[in-house]
Amino acid sequence: MTNYAASTQYGRGWKEVYSGGSPEAEARLFATFTEQIKRVQAQIKEREHAPFIRRAFHAKIHAGITDHVGIADAEFHILPDIPEDLRIGIFQPSATYQATVRFSNASGAIQPDATPDLRGVALRVATDQGNFYDFLMTDAPASHARDARQFMVAAEAMASRWKIISLLKLLAGLGLGETWRMIQALMKESRKIDSLATDQFWSRAPYRFGPYAVKFTLQPSESASGGSAALGENYLKEDFIERLLRRPITFDFKVQRYVDEVKTPIEDGTVEWKESDAPFEAIAQLVIPQQDLRTASARETEMLVDNLDFNPWNTTEEFRPLGNLNRARRTVYQASADYRAGRSDQPASPLSTRLSKMFWIALLTVLLSAGFIYLNKRRRKSRLLTQSAQPAISLSNAASGRTKSISLSQ
Ligand code: HEM
Repeated sequence: MTNYAASTQYGRGWKEVYSGGSPEAEARLFATFTEQIKRVQAQIKEREHAPFIRRAFHAKIHAGITDHVGIADAEFHILPDIPEDLRIGIFQPSATYQATVRFSNASGAIQPDATPDLRGVALRVATDQGNFYDFLMTDAPASHARDARQFMVAAEAMASRWKIISLLKLLAGLGLGETWRMIQALMKESRKIDSLATDQFWSRAPYRFGPYAVKFTLQPSESASGGSAALGENYLKEDFIERLLRRPITFDFKVQRYVDEVKTPIEDGTVEWKESDAPFEAIAQLVIPQQDLRTASARETEMLVDNLDFNPWNTTEEFRPLGNLNRARRTVYQASADYRAGRSDQPASPLSTRLSKMFWIALLTVLLSAGFIYLNKRRRKSRLLTQSAQPAISLSNAASGRTKSISLSQ
């Protein structure tokens, strides 16, 4: 096995490639996502009969913890023995920062926790100088989308009311092969989990870490046992509350470094960076202190956190997000947050929305008619075949003298 870690290039040598050939061309594509994400939010609101516009994704909060009256906030501790070459920026040995945490389901709809889904964590690390860094993670190591365009095609498809429309939108946007690949990936990663405290979360997309490119993960310290057996609508919240009443919940924060474009690509989000190629290195720990999240003050804190606008681009140049999926997130998160906070207008282009609705209805009608004609033809053909294969019996009606033929299969 190659020992990449021994190389002086380990983690370096990465580069970003812009879709469309230039940052400007890529930015023009991303600009169209602003209206698209708002349409997704509006569509989900209508479909779910929701009282207001929510996040396009990760709408349901399980727990929100921050520095607030009577509430012990979370802490982000940098390990005293963090590898020397990773001692960059805020990552200095034994440094401790105040942290804000929001746990969520990935769906843009509020649904029971037992529904298969991904789960997310948004972690905000604040410095004494008033800067903050947002680290967003979900509980799958890779993305279902290769790039942001695919991600948005899937977002619009999944917001549809009807599964058949979702499928047609995926097929039209991605083609047959990529639709099949994405459906398989989504089915594999969406699942029911026992507890947030025992779940692992990944950045899925890469980040710059000084001269290196890395992906990061939050690995739970607790094992899977000890959770609540009940499976109510909000069992993940209940389990989290129960665990936190007994003891702190902790996660190790680890990074894995870029190796090469094949094993650890920057621009293709579907490739998992395997631990065998890029081992995890522990550099920090997230500690959520023991506390009671059932109090009025804790509920107030949760609402406060729910109203925050997390964005992976809340960071500095030396820890900035990398790759096409990540580059799109700056504007898309801002658009989603602005729309739900009432800071932007209704999604534009009602004409194109109407035209696109008419297109899908026409396509569906054509497909259904074609299917109907095909099935009818087949039925008639097989009837003819059976009739010619079956001997007919002649029945004579003695009274009328007329003869009637019937097939044996009737
Ligand atoms: C591939 C890595 C990704 C990860 C790990 C990730 C994770 C997350 C998490 C944890 C949240 C919840 C944040 C919160 O608690 O407020 C979130 C929200 C969201 N994500 Fe992502 N996401 C990823 C990619 C993307 C991409 C590529 C897009 C679109 C181009 C996107 C669009 C959104 C939007 C619109 C929200 C809601 C923002 C808001 O209204 O505040 N995500 N994501």
